[in-house]
Amino acid sequence: MDEKHHDQIAKWERRWIAGSALMTLTFVFFIAYSLATEGAHIAQSAARGTPEQLLAQTIFTDPGVRATGPNQYDVSIVGQAFVWQPETVRVPVDAEITFYLTARDVIHGWQVENTNLNVEVIPGEVSRLQTTFSRPGRYRVSCNEYCGIGHQNMIGWIEVVPASQLVAEVPVETGPADGAAVYASNCASCHGANGAGVAGVFPPLAGHAADLAALDGGRTYLIDTLLYGLQGAIVIDGTSYSGVMPAWPQLSDDAIAAVLDHIVTLDGSDGPEFTVEEVEAERGKGLAASDVLTLRQQVVGP
Ligand code: CUA
Repeated sequence: MDEKHHDQIAKWERRWIAGSALMTLTFVFFIAYSLATEGAHIAQSAARGTPEQLLAQTIFTDPGVRATGPNQYDVSIVGQAFVWQPETVRVPVDAEITFYLTARDVIHGWQVENTNLNVEVIPGEVSRLQTTFSRPGRYRVSCNEYCGIGHQNMIGWIEVVPASQLVAEVPVETGPADGAAVYASNCASCHGANGAGVAGVFPPLAGHAADLAALDGGRTYLIDTLLYGLQGAIVIDGTSYSGVMPAWPQLSDDAIAAVLDHIVTLDGSDGPEFTVEEVEAERGKGLAASDVLTLRQQVVGP
């Protein structure tokens, strides 16, 4: 190659290198600029492990708000099809909040609307995100990663309130579980507020649950469905339902008894109340979701 030709190529090469460097610097500048001025935070992975290990941690067995110092709070949240637990989180304005999020089943996307809080929630990983809410208000949390048929119902709330109000509202003693409240925050997103269900996917509960409770073994079957989930298609009044019922082991015995009382009375039926002892007796049986399907066949017949 002659010298002139070589110089020509070298000149072009320098221009390309300078051009690429300029582009890189521009991108870095915008990232740095948004971090500095827009208060953008990069979510960090705080822990990794099996979902079981992570969910066994206290912050996730009892998710919610914890004070960690003067004006500092940790908030732990678990995503699962199709709810955020807890559904509503109340934090003080102008406080330093650290969110810890993980998922129980599949990947979800936790996005606090009208804020820059947006993080992927992954089973087996804890995402950490720090923020300070400078304006009081009720912020809606949605799921922005498709996670199944009830994805669009996966809604939560963050209520940012004056610190004085928060202190006044913190309950000193937790009373007995409120079945309607447990239902609203855990069951309604699939089975509907009135338990009507969704044809072909989520079975109706109003009336149907009361019918089941009246059958031999029906009450323990209902308890097992909550504790262990239910997998496999079922048929009710000629309609087949194929949705997967997740297990709700995180609900206390008291909460399960209360929510079942609510469910079996959705249609105005009346019957003996579910007791904590009944639920206690079923917990620890270690059933699989497919075992619960077998139980169902024994109760209602094939
Ligand atoms: Cu959870 Cu989409």
